Amino acid sequence: MQKFVITGGRRLCGELALQGSKNSSLPIMAAALLCCGDCTLHSCPKLTDVYAAARILNCVGCKCSFEGNTAVINSENIGSTEISEELMREMRSSIIFMGAMLGRAGECTVSVPGGCELGPRPIDMHLAALRKMGVDIRESGGSIICKAPSGRAKGAKISLAFPSVGATENIILCAVTADGETVINNAAREPEICDLCGFLRSCGADISGDGESRIIINGKHQLHGCEYTIMPDRIVCATYLSMVAATKGELILTNACVPETEPFLSVLEQTGCSIYTSEKKIYLRSGSRLRAVRDRIRTMPHPGFPTDAQAVLMAALCVADGTSVFEENIFDCRYRHTDAFVKMGADIQVLGKVAVIKGREKLHGANVEATDLRGGAAMVIAALCAEGSSEISRICHIDRGYEKMEEAVGLFGGDMRRV
Ligand code: UD1
Repeated sequence: MQKFVITGGRRLCGELALQGSKNSSLPIMAAALLCCGDCTLHSCPKLTDVYAAARILNCVGCKCSFEGNTAVINSENIGSTEISEELMREMRSSIIFMGAMLGRAGECTVSVPGGCELGPRPIDMHLAALRKMGVDIRESGGSIICKAPSGRAKGAKISLAFPSVGATENIILCAVTADGETVINNAAREPEICDLCGFLRSCGADISGDGESRIIINGKHQLHGCEYTIMPDRIVCATYLSMVAATKGELILTNACVPETEPFLSVLEQTGCSIYTSEKKIYLRSGSRLRAVRDRIRTMPHPGFPTDAQAVLMAALCVADGTSVFEENIFDCRYRHTDAFVKMGADIQVLGKVAVIKGREKLHGANVEATDLRGGAAMVIAALCAEGSSEISRICHIDRGYEKMEEAVGLFGGDMRRV
């Protein structure tokens, strides 16, 4: 099992081109199942989750190959509509293959997915919506067996109780080739939903309203292949900005998606660092110790503060001047990284969905274990701020979402090795 060994205390400075978004790549790769002809995806990040999605595609008979950051997927010959339990368990996002497979073949068998340990992550909204679209769903021995009786799902009016990203994606994927019109009320507005819809439109789908709460999809019987560039990863962007800000450094990020990162940038700015943006660039300078964030940081669906950036900003605020308060409103169990910060000398109190962080002048190195993807990335930030050396184990979590993080940190002048 690989580990990261980090010696903290250096001021990080540098320039980096952001990788493509993981959370866009996965549903877009699933969406390629719906297309007749080659789908060429540029800016596809080299991540274990992306390779897990490619294995799912290959296992059902698609041809999926990579050259650098370009993936080419051909789904002309589907040989199976069943995704093995082993593949489903590799990542939670595998559940979006359910909607895509239904859209393609009118049936699928999947199992309850695996993924990050962020507390219970039910799929009740996904299943209820697909049932509303006429899909017959049976659960048997850990398998979910879905079938659209006429071979094609039917358009429906669906109102989500919560704007779930995954449920919105599954409905879109099933609806683009369904019979008739589907309306999703209270749809998720995350930029990655717009990226998925942008890709599907390039393949001939009829979708409007993405980025707003009401999405309308008119089913088309056939989609074609296309060439598409995946949007930059706004969470990786938030991670490197938090990292460099915490070490009082300076950073230029290129290939950034500035408007989509705004909900994070507006909070980071309150720590006193200077942030300048231009069309696809973000420049950050943080010459002195960060200030605590005065207003409570509440994670909310987009355009609120993203839950995926909670841990990485918290790591930076562990060494800020003053007290910051987080309120986690999306997931029940998303403070598991705080034990590692405390082990490094941070002062954090967690009570239910609230975490109170009293900034300390210094952290110290410690040996810790990554608990989940963003929590693990946050531990890297804490270790880079700490005096002395730290070891982070279970870095397979970090590799799910960051392309060679140690190389980026090395470019910034940090001391981080994979052993
Ligand atoms: C996606 C992102 C993840 C991000 C999250 C919230 C991907 C691959 N993952 O996850 O990085 O943290 O959005 O922005 O894009 N819920 C239910 N029932 C359901 C579905 C969801 O109760 O049927 C609950 C979940 O348990 C959670 C909340 O809704 O508490 C939000 O989940 P959702 O928006 O679905 O997140 P994901 O799509 O899993």
